[in-house]
Amino acid sequence: MLDEHVRRHTPGIDGRQVFLDSAGSSLPPQVVLDTVTGHLHREAEIGGYRAAAERAEDLDRVRTSVARLLNAAPGTISLTDSATRSWLDFVTAVDIRPGQRVLVTEVEYHSNAVQFLHRGIPFDVIPSDAGGTLDLAALDRMLDGDVALVSLVHVPTNSGLINPVREVVELAHARGALVLLDACQSAGQLVLDATELGVDGLTGTGRKWLRGPRGTGFLYVRPDIADRLHPATVDGHGAEWISERELRLHQDGRRFELWECDVATRLGLGAAVDYLLELGPHRVEDTVRERAQRLRSALDGLGGVTVRDPGRDRCGIVTFTVDGVAAHDVRTELSRHDIIVTTSTRRSAVIDMDRRGIDAVTRASPHYFVCDAEIDRAVAAVAEIAGSA
Ligand SMILES: Cc1ncc(COP(=O)(O)O)c(C=O)c1O
Repeated sequence: MLDEHVRRHTPGIDGRQVFLDSAGSSLPPQVVLDTVTGHLHREAEIGGYRAAAERAEDLDRVRTSVARLLNAAPGTISLTDSATRSWLDFVTAVDIRPGQRVLVTEVEYHSNAVQFLHRGIPFDVIPSDAGGTLDLAALDRMLDGDVALVSLVHVPTNSGLINPVREVVELAHARGALVLLDACQSAGQLVLDATELGVDGLTGTGRKWLRGPRGTGFLYVRPDIADRLHPATVDGHGAEWISERELRLHQDGRRFELWECDVATRLGLGAAVDYLLELGPHRVEDTVRERAQRLRSALDGLGGVTVRDPGRDRCGIVTFTVDGVAAHDVRTELSRHDIIVTTSTRRSAVIDMDRRGIDAVTRASPHYFVCDAEIDRAVAAVAEIAGSA
């Protein structure tokens, strides 16, 4: 469990709102806010280039911090502006030959799926088992020499499911396929060890469970496959122009980065990751799971409320529906009580929502800074909406 001090370090915890949307965009700790605003002030005082030069070492350390979080080497990390950007950087760098295809999970995220559709990359859907988790036996049957990549969503946008990773990697690698892990919803709430998991790529965002600023993200690329990837976009930061007709691509994560970036938010991401590392990712995971389980089981006990999280292993995202009340009306009604949740609609995960026959769910995502009393307040408000109070 985490102590009262994490609540004192969070300016958004004001005693009024109950914040249950860390899967959307979380409340940053004070240190993140101070880092970002402090740098913006410094840019205004002395200009962006000199302000960045003053923080050159700290900027470099952001990559090291993200690498520590993932148990990886700093050279494997690229800093980007979102999880989607990182994901696109990886997918557009993979050589998918004519005749090859990609495998996706049923919980594929819309921005990932539309990219495959947009680029005309054929994909097949790995079915889930009866419990809603990716079916490893089905994956095993689908893998053949024509699968270039498995696009694996670790935790989806629209439920508390956790998909297995290590097992998928073992099966995929045995048939020569790469695995790209969309860790957008797991980074910051679950312990992630990229080296141990063996994934080829891993993408994450700053603003959700990591409690960083908006407009930040990162990409991890497994060192052994780095030279098989050809970045679609490079600039003078990712590659060196060494003579009139020659460039040399950097072999580390810089090759996926563009030179221009928002230095303030990048430093803010570093501060967010350092804050998490100091709390301890294992402690954070245990607390988030415990918070979510408290909420999930209380909602489960309410008449007229259905918890919608599939899977055996579930995380900090809690989704539910209320009989006879549309998900967005549940959200609006809860916000009248200062309880902040969101909705996940069909369009964000079409395959999964259609398979389950759901149009929208209300999504509550309590981070470790949410206390028992706040969870109980949220449950009481849902009970009132469901008419079971
Ligand atoms: C599972 C999943 N993948 C990817 C993304 C995209 O993240 P970003 O908006 O940082 O690009 C999201 C965002 O909600 C998500 O839930």
